[in-house]
Amino acid sequence: MYKIHPYFTNDGSVGLFSPEADDIYHSTYGALSEAYEKFILPAELEKYFENNSEIKVLDICYGIGYNTKSFLNFLLEKNILKIKNKNKKFFSKKENIVSIYTNNNESKLCNVTTYSNNNSSDMIYSDKVYSETQSKNKHAIITNSETIHSNNISHINSASNLQNCKIFVKAIDVDEKLFYFSPFFRQGKENDKKYNKLDFEYEKINKLLNCEFRQKYKLKPEVNLIIFKNITEKMPEIFDNIEFWQIIESKKYKPFFDCKLTAFLRALKNKTLNSMPRCRLNAFLHNIYYKYISIRYKKALNSLNLDDFIFEPERADARISLKSDKNIYNFIFLDAFTPAKCPALWSLEFFKLLYEHLDKNGMILTYSNSAAVRNAMINAGFFAGKIYNPEINKYTGTIAVKNKSLIKHELSEYDLGLINSKAGIFYRDENLDLSNEAIIAAHKIEVETSNKISSSRFIKAFSRKSS
Ligand SMILES: C[S@@+](CC[C@H](N)C(=O)[O-])C[C@H]1O[C@@H](n2cnc3c(N)ncnc32)[C@H](O)[C@@H]1O
Repeated sequence: MYKIHPYFTNDGSVGLFSPEADDIYHSTYGALSEAYEKFILPAELEKYFENNSEIKVLDICYGIGYNTKSFLNFLLEKNILKIKNKNKKFFSKKENIVSIYTNNNESKLCNVTTYSNNNSSDMIYSDKVYSETQSKNKHAIITNSETIHSNNISHINSASNLQNCKIFVKAIDVDEKLFYFSPFFRQGKENDKKYNKLDFEYEKINKLLNCEFRQKYKLKPEVNLIIFKNITEKMPEIFDNIEFWQIIESKKYKPFFDCKLTAFLRALKNKTLNSMPRCRLNAFLHNIYYKYISIRYKKALNSLNLDDFIFEPERADARISLKSDKNIYNFIFLDAFTPAKCPALWSLEFFKLLYEHLDKNGMILTYSNSAAVRNAMINAGFFAGKIYNPEINKYTGTIAVKNKSLIKHELSEYDLGLINSKAGIFYRDENLDLSNEAIIAAHKIEVETSNKISSSRFIKAFSRKSS
């Protein structure tokens, strides 16, 4: 039986605990804050868009998608991504129009049209909906004159060369259910942390929940809607996954999910819009409409045209997926569990594979400060540098680049010394097919039999020398 162990992190975003990995997916500091600070800010995207009008991003270990969402949010928020409405539609409109009923003649929202993508029908809401009363019994069909567009985003930045900016995001994770859940997690408030007292392995994460609530970043609602649309379209299996539905419908998990989006999903699954009791249907549509489409978001959605935004979620072992991937990426977010738990995605061979997929001016961003990871990067042909967060005056990760001039914070003498100690012995996975356990076992033997200085001896010697 599939389980998730959610909790509210200290910025109100939901984190997950994994009993199998015995690790948390997200730091309690804040799942969203972490995504911004470790992946989005150091990528210096604003600077990137000064000279580029296309971008390819690879999100390795998508999980519930904070890195992809933060990226999308950043672009929307900074107006790098200003989306122009071109009156196009998501899907080609087919005849399978679902007619619905309203219980109010004056209701502006009285129609929904379904659009067909493969054989499954999807529903889109428009921000300029007008009704045609088709019969005396108020039976009406929606006409969508403006729709939320996906697969496409056209950017308008101050620089005019960004008019045709194209964005491609490929997201990989072995766990397809996390893709399914990803659009539904809501952003809580400080007092929502009371839900952390529910029995979701709370004891294990309790010790990590002490720091202060700080909502520095917030996702625009369009972000989840865009992810929702993409996931339901590209992973239609979501509708038949029993374990997913058990969780999304369970009362126990309710506080963690956005109930409007789950209601939306339920309606799509059941395709019962036309059979819903009138009053419930009207209330339901009213809520969706006003939450996502109407007044509050109208401005943003008016400018939405996702013509140039392509999101490709893929359930796969990242090693296998990348072997057959022909893309060259500008940014790679590597967010695997720690090297000691998930060495398959931190091995020398994996970095060699990433080398083939990184643009000459591209950047791999990781939260890891491990000497073994840095050594693997260097041996794979990259230059490794540090990610510095001035707010907390700390180095919070490592970047790998082909163009050395992109490094702002070089590895120090201490870092390089550590790399040359036993701590720098990297993981090996010659054919990119070993289990994590096998990689860990081989690594342990290599460390034990190595003649290199131990990390503790190196650290002692280094501090003696520097004092
Ligand atoms: C730390 S979590 C990532 C959190 C994620 N970035 C987010 O925003 O929610 C690590 C993820 O790595 C995935 N994973 C583990 N091994 C993998 C592999 N070999 N290939 C692809 N994904 C893997 C797990 O399923 C898990 O979702």
